[in-house]
Amino acid sequence: MAKKHIAIYLTGGIALYKAASCVREFVKHGYEVRCVMTENALKFVSKLTFETLSQNPVLTDLFDRNNQNSVAHIELADWTDIALVVPATADIIAKMALGIADDAVSTSLLATAKPKYVVPAMNDKMWDNPATKRNLDLLKQDGVQVLEPEVGFLAEGYQAKGRMPEPKAIYAWITAKSSPKPSLKDKKIIVTAGGTVEEIDPVRFLGNHSTGKMGYALAAYASACGASVTLVHGPTNLHDLPGVEMVSVTSAREMFAAVKARFETADAVIMAAAVADYRPEIKADQKIKKVSGPWQLTLVRNPDILQELGQLKTHQKLVGFAAETQNLFENAKKKLQRKNLDLLAANDVSKKDIGFGSDENEVYLYFKDGKMLPLKKDSKQKIAQEIVDQLALLLKGE
Ligand code: C5P
Repeated sequence: MAKKHIAIYLTGGIALYKAASCVREFVKHGYEVRCVMTENALKFVSKLTFETLSQNPVLTDLFDRNNQNSVAHIELADWTDIALVVPATADIIAKMALGIADDAVSTSLLATAKPKYVVPAMNDKMWDNPATKRNLDLLKQDGVQVLEPEVGFLAEGYQAKGRMPEPKAIYAWITAKSSPKPSLKDKKIIVTAGGTVEEIDPVRFLGNHSTGKMGYALAAYASACGASVTLVHGPTNLHDLPGVEMVSVTSAREMFAAVKARFETADAVIMAAAVADYRPEIKADQKIKKVSGPWQLTLVRNPDILQELGQLKTHQKLVGFAAETQNLFENAKKKLQRKNLDLLAANDVSKKDIGFGSDENEVYLYFKDGKMLPLKKDSKQKIAQEIVDQLALLLKGE
Protein backbone atom coordinates (compact mmCIF):
# COMPACT_ATOMS: atom_id res chain seq x y z
CA MET A 1 0.00 0.00 0.00
CA ALA A 2 1.31 3.48 -0.86
CA LYS A 3 2.52 5.45 2.12
CA LYS A 4 0.42 8.41 3.25
CA HIS A 5 2.24 11.74 2.84
CA ILE A 6 2.26 14.13 5.77
CA ALA A 7 3.86 17.58 5.56
CA ILE A 8 4.77 18.73 9.06
CA TYR A 9 5.13 22.49 9.48
CA LEU A 10 7.29 23.55 12.41
CA THR A 11 7.10 27.05 13.82
CA GLY A 12 9.08 28.86 16.48
CA GLY A 13 7.79 28.00 19.93
CA ILE A 14 9.42 26.21 22.83
CA ALA A 15 7.08 23.21 22.33
CA LEU A 16 9.07 22.53 19.15
CA TYR A 17 11.26 20.07 21.03
CA LYS A 18 8.18 17.84 21.43
CA ALA A 19 7.43 18.10 17.69
CA ALA A 20 10.54 15.96 17.08
CA SER A 21 8.76 13.02 18.78
CA CYS A 22 5.69 13.83 16.72
CA VAL A 23 7.70 13.37 13.51
CA ARG A 24 8.97 10.04 14.86
CA GLU A 25 5.45 8.93 15.70
CA PHE A 26 4.30 9.36 12.09
CA VAL A 27 7.43 7.73 10.62
CA LYS A 28 6.97 4.82 13.06
CA HIS A 29 3.41 4.31 11.85
CA GLY A 30 4.44 4.12 8.19
CA TYR A 31 3.86 7.70 7.02
CA GLU A 32 6.23 9.45 4.59
CA VAL A 33 7.09 12.69 6.39
CA ARG A 34 8.48 15.95 4.98
CA CYS A 35 9.16 18.92 7.23
CA VAL A 36 9.12 22.67 6.66
CA MET A 37 10.58 25.07 9.24
CA THR A 38 10.33 28.81 9.84
CA GLU A 39 13.40 30.97 10.53
CA ASN A 40 12.33 31.19 14.17
CA ALA A 41 11.87 27.42 14.45
CA LEU A 42 15.51 27.00 13.38
CA LYS A 43 16.54 29.02 16.45
CA PHE A 44 14.96 26.41 18.76
CA VAL A 45 15.89 23.08 17.13
CA SER A 46 18.29 22.40 14.25
CA LYS A 47 17.21 21.39 10.76
CA LEU A 48 19.44 18.31 11.12
CA THR A 49 17.16 16.88 13.85
CA PHE A 50 14.13 16.93 11.57
CA GLU A 51 16.07 15.77 8.51
CA THR A 52 17.35 12.80 10.46
CA LEU A 53 13.97 11.90 11.94
CA SER A 54 11.95 12.37 8.74
CA GLN A 55 14.65 10.84 6.52
CA ASN A 56 13.93 13.66 4.06
CA PRO A 57 15.35 17.13 3.31
CA VAL A 58 13.73 19.95 5.31
CA LEU A 59 12.41 22.99 3.44
CA THR A 60 13.31 26.33 5.07
CA ASP A 61 13.98 28.74 2.25
CA LEU A 62 11.95 29.25 -0.92
CA PHE A 63 14.94 30.86 -2.65
CA ASP A 64 17.52 28.22 -1.81
CA ARG A 65 19.71 27.94 -4.95
CA ASN A 66 20.63 24.34 -4.01
CA ASN A 67 17.02 23.23 -3.92
CA GLN A 68 16.37 20.95 -6.88
CA ASN A 69 12.70 21.90 -7.06
CA SER A 70 12.45 25.30 -8.66
CA VAL A 71 8.94 25.78 -7.23
CA ALA A 72 9.48 23.95 -3.97
CA HIS A 73 6.30 25.10 -2.22
CA ILE A 74 4.05 23.96 -5.09
CA GLU A 75 5.84 20.64 -5.40
CA LEU A 76 5.41 20.06 -1.65
CA ALA A 77 1.76 21.13 -1.69
CA ASP A 78 1.01 18.69 -4.53
CA TRP A 79 2.82 15.86 -2.73
CA THR A 80 0.88 16.43 0.53
CA ASP A 81 -2.04 14.24 1.70
CA ILE A 82 -2.21 15.84 5.16
CA ALA A 83 -0.65 19.08 6.45
CA LEU A 84 0.10 19.40 10.17
CA VAL A 85 1.31 22.60 11.86
CA VAL A 86 2.99 21.74 15.16
CA PRO A 87 3.53 23.70 17.30
CA ALA A 88 1.45 26.45 15.73
CA THR A 89 2.42 29.88 17.04
CA ALA A 90 -0.03 32.81 17.20
CA ASP A 91 1.94 34.22 14.26
CA ILE A 92 1.39 31.30 11.85
CA ILE A 93 -2.26 31.07 12.93
CA ALA A 94 -2.68 34.75 12.00
CA LYS A 95 -0.89 34.28 8.68
CA MET A 96 -2.96 31.22 7.78
CA ALA A 97 -6.19 33.02 8.72
CA LEU A 98 -5.33 36.01 6.53
CA GLY A 99 -3.65 34.16 3.68
CA ILE A 100 -0.26 35.77 4.21
CA ALA A 101 2.57 34.02 2.35
CA ASP A 102 5.96 35.47 3.29
CA ASP A 103 8.16 32.42 4.01
CA ALA A 104 8.46 28.71 3.18
CA VAL A 105 5.91 27.64 5.83
CA SER A 106 3.15 30.17 5.16
CA THR A 107 3.59 30.01 1.37
CA SER A 108 3.49 26.19 1.18
CA LEU A 109 0.47 26.11 3.50
CA LEU A 110 -1.34 28.64 1.30
CA ALA A 111 -0.60 26.48 -1.74
CA THR A 112 -1.94 23.31 -0.01
CA ALA A 113 -5.49 22.30 -0.82
CA LYS A 114 -5.42 19.13 1.33
CA PRO A 115 -6.77 18.74 4.93
CA LYS A 116 -4.93 20.92 7.41
CA TYR A 117 -4.45 20.26 11.12
CA VAL A 118 -3.19 22.88 13.53
CA VAL A 119 -1.85 22.29 17.06
CA PRO A 120 -1.49 25.68 18.77
CA ALA A 121 0.93 26.01 21.68
CA MET A 122 1.74 29.36 23.22
CA ASN A 123 1.68 31.49 26.34
CA ASP A 124 -1.79 31.61 27.94
CA LYS A 125 -2.07 35.39 27.48
CA MET A 126 -1.37 35.07 23.77
CA TRP A 127 -3.90 32.20 23.59
CA ASP A 128 -6.54 34.34 25.35
CA ASN A 129 -5.94 37.38 23.12
CA PRO A 130 -9.09 38.20 21.10
CA ALA A 131 -6.97 38.43 17.92
CA THR A 132 -5.85 34.79 18.36
CA LYS A 133 -9.43 33.72 19.05
CA ARG A 134 -10.65 35.57 15.93
CA ASN A 135 -7.95 34.02 13.76
CA LEU A 136 -8.70 30.52 15.04
CA ASP A 137 -12.40 31.04 14.30
CA LEU A 138 -11.47 32.03 10.75
CA LEU A 139 -9.33 28.91 10.37
CA LYS A 140 -12.16 26.69 11.64
CA GLN A 141 -14.56 28.36 9.19
CA ASP A 142 -12.09 27.45 6.44
CA GLY A 143 -12.29 23.79 7.52
CA VAL A 144 -8.94 23.66 9.32
CA GLN A 145 -8.97 21.24 12.28
CA VAL A 146 -7.64 22.67 15.52
CA LEU A 147 -6.44 20.64 18.53
CA GLU A 148 -6.80 22.89 21.57
CA PRO A 149 -3.80 23.22 23.87
CA GLU A 150 -3.90 21.55 27.26
CA VAL A 151 -3.83 23.14 30.67
CA GLY A 152 -0.45 22.31 32.13
CA PHE A 153 2.95 23.49 33.17
CA LEU A 154 4.11 26.19 30.71
CA ALA A 155 7.73 27.12 29.90
CA GLU A 156 7.04 30.37 31.82
CA GLY A 157 6.96 28.30 35.02
CA TYR A 158 3.27 28.26 35.88
CA GLN A 159 0.15 26.20 35.16
CA ALA A 160 -2.14 27.54 32.44
CA LYS A 161 -3.76 26.73 29.11
CA GLY A 162 -1.31 26.75 26.23
CA ARG A 163 0.65 23.52 26.54
CA MET A 164 1.05 21.33 23.48
CA PRO A 165 -0.58 17.89 23.83
CA GLU A 166 1.74 14.88 23.83
CA PRO A 167 2.91 13.57 20.42
CA LYS A 168 1.05 10.27 20.81
CA ALA A 169 -2.19 12.19 21.42
CA ILE A 170 -1.54 14.34 18.34
CA TYR A 171 -0.97 11.22 16.24
CA ALA A 172 -4.16 9.63 17.57
CA TRP A 173 -6.14 12.84 16.92
CA ILE A 174 -4.99 13.04 13.30
CA THR A 175 -5.61 9.37 12.55
CA ALA A 176 -9.06 9.55 14.15
CA LYS A 177 -9.93 12.67 12.15
CA SER A 178 -8.42 11.57 8.85
CA SER A 179 -9.63 7.97 8.59
CA PRO A 180 -13.11 7.24 7.24
CA LYS A 181 -15.57 6.96 10.09
CA PRO A 182 -18.92 5.21 10.41
CA SER A 183 -21.87 7.50 10.96
CA LEU A 184 -23.44 7.19 14.39
CA LYS A 185 -25.71 10.18 13.89
CA ASP A 186 -28.98 9.84 15.87
CA LYS A 187 -27.45 7.07 18.02
CA LYS A 188 -27.31 7.40 21.79
CA ILE A 189 -24.34 5.67 23.35
CA ILE A 190 -23.49 5.33 27.03
CA VAL A 191 -19.84 4.68 27.84
CA THR A 192 -18.50 3.97 31.32
CA ALA A 193 -14.90 4.64 32.29
CA GLY A 194 -12.50 4.59 35.20
CA GLY A 195 -12.64 2.68 38.43
CA THR A 196 -15.36 2.91 41.03
CA VAL A 197 -14.55 3.93 44.60
CA GLU A 198 -16.15 2.17 47.57
CA GLU A 199 -15.95 4.09 50.82
CA ILE A 200 -14.96 2.44 54.08
CA ASP A 201 -15.17 5.54 56.28
CA PRO A 202 -14.82 9.32 55.66
CA VAL A 203 -11.10 8.94 54.81
CA ARG A 204 -10.59 5.42 53.47
CA PHE A 205 -11.83 3.67 50.37
CA LEU A 206 -11.39 0.60 48.19
CA GLY A 207 -10.37 1.44 44.63
CA ASN A 208 -8.46 0.05 41.67
CA HIS A 209 -5.79 1.06 39.13
CA SER A 210 -8.09 1.99 36.26
CA THR A 211 -7.18 5.40 34.76
CA GLY A 212 -10.24 5.73 32.49
CA LYS A 213 -8.13 6.16 29.32
CA MET A 214 -9.83 3.35 27.38
CA GLY A 215 -13.35 4.56 28.16
CA TYR A 216 -12.49 8.19 27.38
CA ALA A 217 -10.99 7.13 24.02
CA LEU A 218 -14.16 5.17 23.21
CA ALA A 219 -16.40 8.11 24.13
CA ALA A 220 -14.28 10.59 22.13
CA TYR A 221 -14.34 8.47 19.00
CA ALA A 222 -18.06 7.61 19.24
CA SER A 223 -18.74 11.33 19.59
CA ALA A 224 -16.49 12.10 16.59
CA CYS A 225 -18.64 9.63 14.61
CA GLY A 226 -21.68 11.79 15.41
CA ALA A 227 -23.22 9.79 18.29
CA SER A 228 -24.78 11.53 21.24
CA VAL A 229 -22.52 10.22 23.98
CA THR A 230 -22.86 10.10 27.76
CA LEU A 231 -19.69 9.23 29.63
CA VAL A 232 -20.36 7.91 33.13
CA HIS A 233 -17.01 7.91 34.85
CA GLY A 234 -15.44 7.23 38.21
CA PRO A 235 -12.77 9.61 39.58
CA THR A 236 -10.05 10.18 36.92
CA ASN A 237 -7.34 12.74 36.12
CA LEU A 238 -8.57 13.17 32.56
CA HIS A 239 -10.05 16.31 31.00
CA ASP A 240 -13.77 16.51 30.25
CA LEU A 241 -14.51 15.68 26.61
CA PRO A 242 -16.06 18.53 24.62
CA GLY A 243 -19.47 17.65 23.17
CA VAL A 244 -19.91 14.65 25.49
CA GLU A 245 -22.32 14.56 28.46
CA MET A 246 -20.02 13.95 31.43
CA VAL A 247 -21.57 12.21 34.46
CA SER A 248 -19.25 11.88 37.41
CA VAL A 249 -19.91 9.07 39.91
CA THR A 250 -17.97 7.38 42.67
CA SER A 251 -19.43 4.01 43.71
CA ALA A 252 -20.63 1.06 41.61
CA ARG A 253 -24.17 1.65 42.82
CA GLU A 254 -24.03 5.29 41.68
CA MET A 255 -22.69 4.16 38.32
CA PHE A 256 -25.49 1.63 37.99
CA ALA A 257 -28.13 4.29 38.79
CA ALA A 258 -26.64 6.75 36.26
CA VAL A 259 -26.52 4.12 33.49
CA LYS A 260 -29.95 2.65 34.28
CA ALA A 261 -31.60 6.07 34.19
CA ARG A 262 -30.43 6.51 30.57
CA PHE A 263 -30.65 2.89 29.40
CA GLU A 264 -34.16 2.79 27.95
CA THR A 265 -33.49 5.43 25.31
CA ALA A 266 -29.91 4.31 24.59
CA ASP A 267 -28.88 2.41 21.48
CA ALA A 268 -25.73 0.95 23.01
CA VAL A 269 -23.75 0.73 26.23
CA ILE A 270 -20.00 0.21 26.32
CA MET A 271 -18.92 -0.82 29.83
CA ALA A 272 -15.22 0.00 29.95
CA ALA A 273 -15.27 0.89 33.66
CA ALA A 274 -13.49 -1.26 36.22
CA VAL A 275 -16.45 -1.69 38.53
CA ALA A 276 -15.68 -2.87 42.05
CA ASP A 277 -17.24 -6.28 42.57
CA TYR A 278 -17.45 -5.72 46.34
CA ARG A 279 -18.06 -2.86 48.75
CA PRO A 280 -17.77 -2.63 52.52
CA GLU A 281 -20.99 -3.83 54.14
CA ILE A 282 -21.10 -0.68 56.27
CA LYS A 283 -19.68 2.75 55.55
CA ALA A 284 -18.64 4.11 58.96
CA ASP A 285 -19.76 7.69 59.69
CA GLN A 286 -16.59 8.39 61.66
CA LYS A 287 -12.99 7.45 60.93
CA ILE A 288 -12.42 3.89 62.14
CA LYS A 289 -9.79 3.78 64.90
CA LYS A 290 -6.76 1.49 64.65
CA VAL A 291 -6.80 -1.62 66.79
CA SER A 292 -3.76 -3.59 67.92
CA GLY A 293 -4.63 -6.86 66.13
CA PRO A 294 -5.83 -7.58 62.60
CA TRP A 295 -8.87 -5.75 61.27
CA GLN A 296 -11.64 -7.60 59.50
CA LEU A 297 -13.69 -5.80 56.92
CA THR A 298 -16.86 -7.46 55.69
CA LEU A 299 -17.51 -6.96 52.01
CA VAL A 300 -20.77 -7.48 50.15
CA ARG A 301 -21.33 -7.94 46.43
CA ASN A 302 -22.01 -4.95 44.23
CA PRO A 303 -24.50 -5.25 41.40
CA ASP A 304 -22.93 -6.55 38.19
CA ILE A 305 -24.09 -3.61 36.08
CA LEU A 306 -23.47 -5.27 32.74
CA GLN A 307 -25.19 -8.48 33.72
CA GLU A 308 -28.23 -6.55 34.96
CA LEU A 309 -28.33 -4.58 31.70
CA GLY A 310 -28.11 -7.89 29.82
CA GLN A 311 -31.36 -8.93 31.56
CA LEU A 312 -33.06 -5.59 30.93
CA LYS A 313 -32.06 -5.07 27.31
CA THR A 314 -34.65 -4.82 24.59
CA HIS A 315 -33.01 -3.34 21.49
CA GLN A 316 -29.72 -2.08 23.00
CA LYS A 317 -26.34 -3.43 21.96
CA LEU A 318 -24.08 -4.25 24.89
CA VAL A 319 -20.30 -4.16 24.81
CA GLY A 320 -18.25 -5.44 27.73
CA PHE A 321 -14.58 -5.72 28.63
CA ALA A 322 -12.86 -8.64 30.27
CA ALA A 323 -9.44 -8.60 31.84
CA GLU A 324 -8.23 -12.17 32.16
CA THR A 325 -5.01 -13.71 33.42
CA GLN A 326 -5.66 -17.22 32.05
CA ASN A 327 -7.91 -19.17 29.67
CA LEU A 328 -8.79 -15.99 27.79
CA PHE A 329 -10.75 -17.79 25.10
CA GLU A 330 -13.02 -19.90 27.32
CA ASN A 331 -13.59 -17.19 29.91
CA ALA A 332 -14.45 -14.62 27.26
CA LYS A 333 -17.00 -16.89 25.60
CA LYS A 334 -18.64 -17.74 28.93
CA LYS A 335 -18.79 -14.07 29.92
CA LEU A 336 -20.33 -13.07 26.61
CA GLN A 337 -23.13 -15.59 27.16
CA ARG A 338 -23.63 -15.05 30.87
CA LYS A 339 -23.95 -11.28 30.52
CA ASN A 340 -25.99 -11.48 27.27
CA LEU A 341 -23.53 -9.28 25.38
CA ASP A 342 -23.19 -8.49 21.70
CA LEU A 343 -19.48 -7.86 21.83
CA LEU A 344 -16.76 -8.51 24.39
CA ALA A 345 -13.26 -7.01 24.27
CA ALA A 346 -10.98 -9.33 26.20
CA ASN A 347 -7.37 -8.74 27.10
CA ASP A 348 -4.74 -10.84 28.76
CA VAL A 349 -3.61 -8.70 31.70
CA SER A 350 -0.82 -11.11 32.57
CA LYS A 351 1.06 -9.49 29.65
CA LYS A 352 3.21 -6.49 30.52
CA ASP A 353 2.79 -2.94 29.07
CA ILE A 354 -0.88 -3.25 28.12
CA GLY A 355 -4.16 -2.59 29.83
CA PHE A 356 -4.37 -0.81 33.18
CA GLY A 357 -2.71 2.61 33.22
CA SER A 358 -0.88 1.99 29.95
CA ASP A 359 -1.44 4.05 26.79
CA GLU A 360 -1.64 0.85 24.78
CA ASN A 361 -3.83 -2.20 24.71
CA GLU A 362 -4.11 -5.50 22.87
CA VAL A 363 -7.54 -7.08 22.75
CA TYR A 364 -9.52 -9.90 21.18
CA LEU A 365 -13.05 -9.07 20.12
CA TYR A 366 -15.57 -11.86 20.70
CA PHE A 367 -18.95 -11.64 19.00
CA LYS A 368 -22.27 -13.24 19.89
CA ASP A 369 -22.22 -15.32 16.69
CA GLY A 370 -18.92 -16.96 17.67
CA LYS A 371 -16.71 -14.75 15.49
CA MET A 372 -13.41 -13.57 16.98
CA LEU A 373 -11.31 -10.63 15.80
CA PRO A 374 -7.82 -10.14 17.24
CA LEU A 375 -6.63 -6.51 17.41
CA LYS A 376 -2.87 -6.15 17.51
CA LYS A 377 -1.20 -4.05 20.21
CA ASP A 378 -1.84 -0.37 19.53
CA SER A 379 -2.77 2.91 21.22
CA LYS A 380 -6.01 2.91 23.21
CA GLN A 381 -7.33 5.47 20.71
CA LYS A 382 -6.77 3.06 17.82
CA ILE A 383 -8.31 0.14 19.76
CA ALA A 384 -11.28 2.38 20.62
CA GLN A 385 -11.76 3.14 16.92
CA GLU A 386 -11.83 -0.54 16.03
CA ILE A 387 -14.33 -1.36 18.79
CA VAL A 388 -16.66 1.51 17.87
CA ASP A 389 -16.37 0.64 14.15
CA GLN A 390 -17.51 -2.91 15.00
CA LEU A 391 -20.32 -1.61 17.20
CA ALA A 392 -21.46 0.64 14.33
CA LEU A 393 -21.77 -2.46 12.11
CA LEU A 394 -23.80 -4.24 14.82
CA LEU A 395 -26.07 -1.19 15.13
CA LYS A 396 -26.63 -1.30 11.37
CA GLY A 397 -27.60 -4.95 11.71
CA GLU A 398 -24.51 -6.23 9.88
O1 C5P B 1 -17.06 -10.26 35.27
P1 C5P B 1 -16.04 -9.24 34.96
O2 C5P B 1 -15.79 -8.27 36.08
O3 C5P B 1 -14.75 -9.78 34.37
O4 C5P B 1 -16.69 -8.40 33.74
C1 C5P B 1 -16.11 -7.27 33.23
C2 C5P B 1 -17.15 -6.46 32.51
O5 C5P B 1 -18.30 -6.31 33.32
C3 C5P B 1 -16.67 -5.05 32.22
O6 C5P B 1 -17.28 -4.61 31.02
C4 C5P B 1 -17.18 -4.27 33.44
O7 C5P B 1 -17.37 -2.90 33.13
C5 C5P B 1 -18.48 -4.97 33.77
N1 C5P B 1 -18.80 -5.04 35.21
C6 C5P B 1 -19.97 -4.47 35.67
N2 C5P B 1 -20.29 -4.52 37.01
C7 C5P B 1 -19.49 -5.17 37.88
C8 C5P B 1 -18.31 -5.77 37.42
C9 C5P B 1 -17.98 -5.67 36.09
O8 C5P B 1 -20.70 -3.88 34.87
N3 C5P B 1 -19.82 -5.20 39.15
